Amino acid sequence: MDPTSNLQPVQPPTSNLQPYNGAMWDAWRSACLRQDLVKHLWAEQAIRSQEVAEAFLVLPREYFLPHLPLEQVYQDEAIVVKRVDGEPRSSSSQPALMADMLEVLELAPGQRVLEIGAGTGYNAALLARLVGPRGRVVSVDIDPEMASAAQTHLAQAGLPEVQVVSGDGAAGWCARAPYDRIVVTVQQYDLSPAWVQQLKEGGLLLVPLTLHEPLRLALIPAFRREGRSLVARSGSLGAFMYMQGQMAHPRLAEPALALTSGPPEEGLVLLAESLQARAFFQALRNSRPGPGRWRPIARERAPAPSDLQHQGGLALLLGMEVGSRAFRLRSGHDRYGFKGYALGLVGPTGRGATVITTSELLHYADAEAAPEARALLDRWHALSCPGQRDFPITAVPTGEQPRPAQAGWSIARTHHTFLIGTPRR
Ligand SMILES: C[S@@+](CC[C@H](N)C(=O)[O-])C[C@H]1O[C@@H](n2cnc3c(N)ncnc32)[C@H](O)[C@@H]1O
Repeated sequence: MDPTSNLQPVQPPTSNLQPYNGAMWDAWRSACLRQDLVKHLWAEQAIRSQEVAEAFLVLPREYFLPHLPLEQVYQDEAIVVKRVDGEPRSSSSQPALMADMLEVLELAPGQRVLEIGAGTGYNAALLARLVGPRGRVVSVDIDPEMASAAQTHLAQAGLPEVQVVSGDGAAGWCARAPYDRIVVTVQQYDLSPAWVQQLKEGGLLLVPLTLHEPLRLALIPAFRREGRSLVARSGSLGAFMYMQGQMAHPRLAEPALALTSGPPEEGLVLLAESLQARAFFQALRNSRPGPGRWRPIARERAPAPSDLQHQGGLALLLGMEVGSRAFRLRSGHDRYGFKGYALGLVGPTGRGATVITTSELLHYADAEAAPEARALLDRWHALSCPGQRDFPITAVPTGEQPRPAQAGWSIARTHHTFLIGTPRR
């Protein structure tokens, strides 16, 4: 049942309040805006349960974002709260993403939860509401200033029992382990062994994970601990800020490369760091001056997915199959052969590249990548058009063999190897 259907309009403070109390008006406006946000999140299916709806309704987000206008606080948007040299370092995540993650965590009263990346403390507060007074929430932030602000906000919100720790979340927080749930709100390339050790058998680890760097393919799988392994269905799309500290991953030098001159939003932009794609497009730019340079030499009809979830499934398959020859492009004008976002792959010798739009294959410079692109789409259709959520993922400590052995692809990182299985629908 939709828990927002029986929400009554919040009554404004009555006019005989003497003297005029601005704080009461703000509280009333905040309650109205909270109701609107919850209705929106329910309609978007980010909130799917009474419990998560109630947590959002009772916790004013402005306690965690003081000094911002209420209308801004209740937009369904991420809000950056700290920058260093212009670069975002901390934020309050988008409420839709937070709600979806809270639903996936299947929280219940009495559970112990560890959060990595406290930020403002708002998500820790929602977690605390959901596990109730018998539960326990600990949140770790590497930035002492953020940790201290989060603890203050939580106390103001009436939740002083939530413990905020200043430190590198890569080590987890063993003092309160084991945990029923660990939720990571910072982007990862690997899983810390400490998280697995501190998670109960059968517990969930929800973590934003970059699985394919050249495509910047990020998922948020919910791994269930099964002995030394973790088993998940690939999760929602979504990315967070980069992890700092001992598990920080080297940053991409130039994550986007404008290929055409003029405003990037009107031109052709290579969106992620694929060295092969970068070399191919740079060579094309140098070798073929003139307006025809960015036009496809041939095109063929080939239906491909148009919605994000299924494009994510195709991207995963592409990334696993062709590795660092995969790329993602954005075109601001039809003159380049397509408009919008598209996946692509460079051919095996680097002479040509094929772009996969929602309805066509476009071949640039040479059609050498065409057979692979066709085979990829055939395979995706033969697998019943999987979306990004349909790929099983198992994480095992690097160097150990999974049992039983699995068909699929493997991505080895320092601590864990991720085995991406054949999609099940
Ligand atoms: C996106 S914000 C957290 C958002 C918050 N949990 C929420 O959902 O609103 C990411 C936070 O992670 C913190 N962080 C980055 N690297 C970290 C690390 N190694 N250990 C703990 N916290 C880290 C940053 O300081 C930042 O405050």
